[in-house]
Amino acid sequence: MNAARFIVSDACVGCGRCVNVCPGGVLEMGDDRRPRMRGFEEFGWNGCWKCDHCLAVCPMGAVSVLDKQPEDSLPVAHSSEAAPVMDALVAGRRSCRRYRRRNVPRDVVDQMIDLLANAPNGGNKQQVEFTLVDDMDRMDRLRAVVRNRMGQLAEQGIYPEGFGREAYEDMRGWEQTVRPDMFFCGAPHVFIPHAPLGNGEPVQDVIIAGTYFELLCASRGLGAVMMTFPLAVLDLMPDVRALLRIPESHYVGMIIGFGYPEIPYVRGTQRCMDPHRLHRLDLPLGTGTNGRNDRFQ
Ligand SMILES: Cc1cc2nc3c(=O)[nH]c(=O)nc-3n(C[C@H](O)[C@H](O)[C@H](O)COP(=O)(O)O)c2cc1C
Repeated sequence: MNAARFIVSDACVGCGRCVNVCPGGVLEMGDDRRPRMRGFEEFGWNGCWKCDHCLAVCPMGAVSVLDKQPEDSLPVAHSSEAAPVMDALVAGRRSCRRYRRRNVPRDVVDQMIDLLANAPNGGNKQQVEFTLVDDMDRMDRLRAVVRNRMGQLAEQGIYPEGFGREAYEDMRGWEQTVRPDMFFCGAPHVFIPHAPLGNGEPVQDVIIAGTYFELLCASRGLGAVMMTFPLAVLDLMPDVRALLRIPESHYVGMIIGFGYPEIPYVRGTQRCMDPHRLHRLDLPLGTGTNGRNDRFQ
C-alpha cells in the first residue's frame, strides 16, 4: 500500500475542493472536515496521479503534497491579461529558418524544459524524454555528420522515406540558391521530444510537448521551427539516432530547431480559418426531458 505525503495545515477550511478535484479519487473528507489521503495500491490510474491538483485548487494554500509547498507554485494567469498575450503569441509565432550565431543561455533553455512537466500528457505519466543540442558548435558537428552521411547514402541510391532522388537533388540545389541548410533550417540548437512506445499515449504526449516548447520559444523571443524531414533522414542513420540517445523503441514526432532569429517578425500573418474546416455539432435536441423521443439514445 502506497501513501503520497499529503499534509493539510490549520489554514484548511474544509471546503472539499481538493477531494472533489482529485482525478484518482484517493482523497476523502474525514469526520473532522479535514481532507486526508487513503492508501492506494500504486501511483497512477487507481491511485495518486502525482498531479498536484489538490495543492493547486486549495484557496487557503493549506495543502502540500509529495513534499511540494503551495507557496512555490506560479500564480495562475487571469484571462484579461493572459488572453491578449496568448492571442499575440499564437498569431505571432512563425517557423524560423534563419538564425543568429549565438547560443541561447542554458538557464533560459532549462526554464522552458522545466515548464514542460506541465504539458498535458496521458495519465500524467511524464514519460516524454528530451534530446537537446543547445551548443551551436556541437550542432554544427551534428549537421556536418548528417550531411556527409546523407551524401554517401545518396551515392548508393538510398534516400529518406517519402523523399526520392529528385527531391534530394532539388534540395541540394536550393542549398545553393535559397538557404545553405535545408536539413536543419540553419538552427543553432535542436530539441527532440521522444517517448517509449507501448505504454500510455507516447505519440500525443510527444507532439504536445513539442508544441508547448515551440510556444515557449515564441514567448521568449526565440525563433523555432518544427521539422519532420530530418526525422526521415535519422531513420537511415541508427548510429546517429543512438548518439542522440533516442532508443529504437521510442516514438519521435518532430525535431524542433530553435535559437535567436536573424530576422524578427514584427506582426502576425493574416491567415483566416476557412469556415468549411469547422463542423459544429447540429444534433437535434430531444423533445422529452430525458431525450426519450430522440433518435439518438
Ligand atoms: C509536422 C510539421 C513538420 C514540419 N516539417 C518541416 C520541415 O521539415 N522543414 C521546414 O522547413 N519546415 C517544416 N515545418 C514548418 C511548416 O512548413 C510551417 O509550420 C508552415 O509553413 C506554416 O508556417 P508558420 O509555422 O510560419 O506559421 C513543419 C511543420 C509541422 C507542423
